[in-house]
Amino acid sequence: MTDEPARAAPAFGGRWTEEKLAILERYLDAYTTALKDQPFRLWYIDAFAGTGQMELSGDDQRDIRRFVSGSAERAINIGDKPFDKLVFVEQDPDRCVELAKLRTTHKDRDIVIENSNANTFLRSLDEDWRGRRGVLFLDPYATQVEWSTLERIAAFEALDTWILFPVGAISRLLPRLRRPDEVDEKWAARLSTIYGDESWRGLYRPSAQLNLFGFESHERDQGVDGPLQMYKSKLTDLFGDRFLEKSRPLKNSKNSALFEFLFCAGNPQGASIAKRIAKSILMKDL
Ligand SMILES: C[S@@+](CC[C@H](N)C(=O)[O-])C[C@H]1O[C@@H](n2cnc3c(N)ncnc32)[C@H](O)[C@@H]1O
Repeated sequence: MTDEPARAAPAFGGRWTEEKLAILERYLDAYTTALKDQPFRLWYIDAFAGTGQMELSGDDQRDIRRFVSGSAERAINIGDKPFDKLVFVEQDPDRCVELAKLRTTHKDRDIVIENSNANTFLRSLDEDWRGRRGVLFLDPYATQVEWSTLERIAAFEALDTWILFPVGAISRLLPRLRRPDEVDEKWAARLSTIYGDESWRGLYRPSAQLNLFGFESHERDQGVDGPLQMYKSKLTDLFGDRFLEKSRPLKNSKNSALFEFLFCAGNPQGASIAKRIAKSILMKDL
């Protein structure tokens, strides 16, 4: 834990935020150690980088403010074999100013700060990945990760990718009783951007009961399982064996699922070891 920084990312989560950061940090540590004698230049890309610091809100309502290192700072401090290049992408210019301070305090490191939309930035990457490998962290507040971005990442075959899939927010976009063509237009567009097509409409099936007005109604299972399984099945189609089926739910103090933490390996040759490491971390009590 650290003293209060000049400007940390606003309070976002409680225990589950620490869990997420601990999983990422353990993976980064294991990843750089596993590749330390390989001839690759190692990249870390944090596409929703924040400020480098996280303020944790106690979700038990007590007014306790706590600050911990965020993902960007943790990645810089991975020590055994440090990352050769760190790219921090952040849409908010004020947060980029905070990230720039990390560059000042770590002058010897190759740190790039991109004040951009994560999707636009990642889709425009055109590195020659042959001598490079890396880890990409996709940690949005909610539904910002677009399917076309994942398609681009999968094609690189170089970046091990951790995705926070916002099951809670997606469930709210998919009301239980509704005909799929009645889902609000704006929400429908968002869902199609996340899933890459309109397959999410298949989550609804005709209900056994007529609605109040005597018309046929459609419903989907309550809860987060349907939307999550559909996303996982699409990731399997996209990444093949590189997608790790095992994942970890991140829940708030009321036991409601907020995100599912998912992993896809980058390079097919390193995929089985990467998945083995990721799986063992996901299964640990943290
Ligand atoms: C959950 S926070 C990231 C926290 C960070 N990973 C950490 O551990 O400190 C999400 C961040 O993404 C930024 N953001 C939101 N939409 C974005 C987008 N489309 N592209 C890039 N950054 C975005 C927000 O400003 C916020 O700082």
